[in-house]
Amino acid sequence: MTSSPLAHLDEQTQELLATIAKTTTLEALVEAEPALIGKRSILSTLQKSLGSLEPEDRRSAGALLQEARRVVEAALSERRAVLQREARSRQLERDRLDLGDVLDAQVSHPLSVGHPGLIAVTQRELEDVFVGMGFTVADGPEVESDWYNFEALNIPPAHPARDMWDTFYVELGDPETVVLRTHTSPTQIHLMEEAVAHGTLPIHSVMPGRCYRRDTPDASHLYSFHQIEGLVVDRGITFADLAGVIETFTRAYFGPDITSRLRPAYFPFTEPSAEFEVTCTICRGEGCRTCSHTGWIELGGSGMLDPVVLEAVGIDGEEWSGFAFGFGIDRCAQMRHQVSDMRALIENDTRFLEQIS
Ligand code: DAH
Repeated sequence: MTSSPLAHLDEQTQELLATIAKTTTLEALVEAEPALIGKRSILSTLQKSLGSLEPEDRRSAGALLQEARRVVEAALSERRAVLQREARSRQLERDRLDLGDVLDAQVSHPLSVGHPGLIAVTQRELEDVFVGMGFTVADGPEVESDWYNFEALNIPPAHPARDMWDTFYVELGDPETVVLRTHTSPTQIHLMEEAVAHGTLPIHSVMPGRCYRRDTPDASHLYSFHQIEGLVVDRGITFADLAGVIETFTRAYFGPDITSRLRPAYFPFTEPSAEFEVTCTICRGEGCRTCSHTGWIELGGSGMLDPVVLEAVGIDGEEWSGFAFGFGIDRCAQMRHQVSDMRALIENDTRFLEQIS
């Protein structure tokens, strides 16, 4: 058998199997296939050489060769299957969408939840101070008739004081004229009318809300701003009560080292009237640019209710007296948080809004 063409069949088969096992890609396997089992492969060459054998030997040699080919082909198809699986999982790996990155981004930049703005926060703080002093909080309309915004407050048509409260008119000239309110003072009229209608005097209320004026926006003016109005109608009310309420509020809201002062002024609906000023919160009264070196900042107006106003709403001025005040919520926010430009309050710039909590 040493001279048999199949003398080295085992080693040759092992070599073919080793080649198959060493092939690492599907492409290389396809390329190697003709050399492994094709017409020019060793197995085919051996097949051809069997012709020289005796028929008897040829048959048994043929069977051996066939078995060798079966083993090689089986190894080939098994290897092909393995390489195909590997190629597929490499493809899947390449196509994988890494949602981990998306989740990480979500965790490090979570959707932010909003919060009340500076005006809303300030309004609540002011309400809190007054509620603590025994006041109730009332609301009034932003759209008013000429009567509530002006006439009932003793500002008749053509009165020069109207200049101070120029606004957005829907129609000019008659008492039914509709205006965007220029101050929160008309809410005083609503409250007094209701109290008279329901017999619920006395009144101790504050009325916060949005107002409008024909102002061109600049660092200290806005066409839309907020005020808080105060109204007390009771028996035996004096100017000392007004001064006491203003001073108590000032210290409670701005702190014990800030104080208030009242200076004579004119408002058509109060008599006497006073401007209400507080120690400048920037320089603490030393004098600086913000307070024009006076040490004081004007916050609003105040005064004893004019008998003409009490009469307009049907309150007996002999039995009842009272005082009122009104000042800017935006101004309070600006002073307490040192906002140098009021326009920041309405611009909705998130870099500003995010500083408020
Ligand atoms: N309404 C006035 C204004 O906007 C402020 C004011 C002054 C309100 C005197 C009052 C007051 O209640 O008594 O300029």
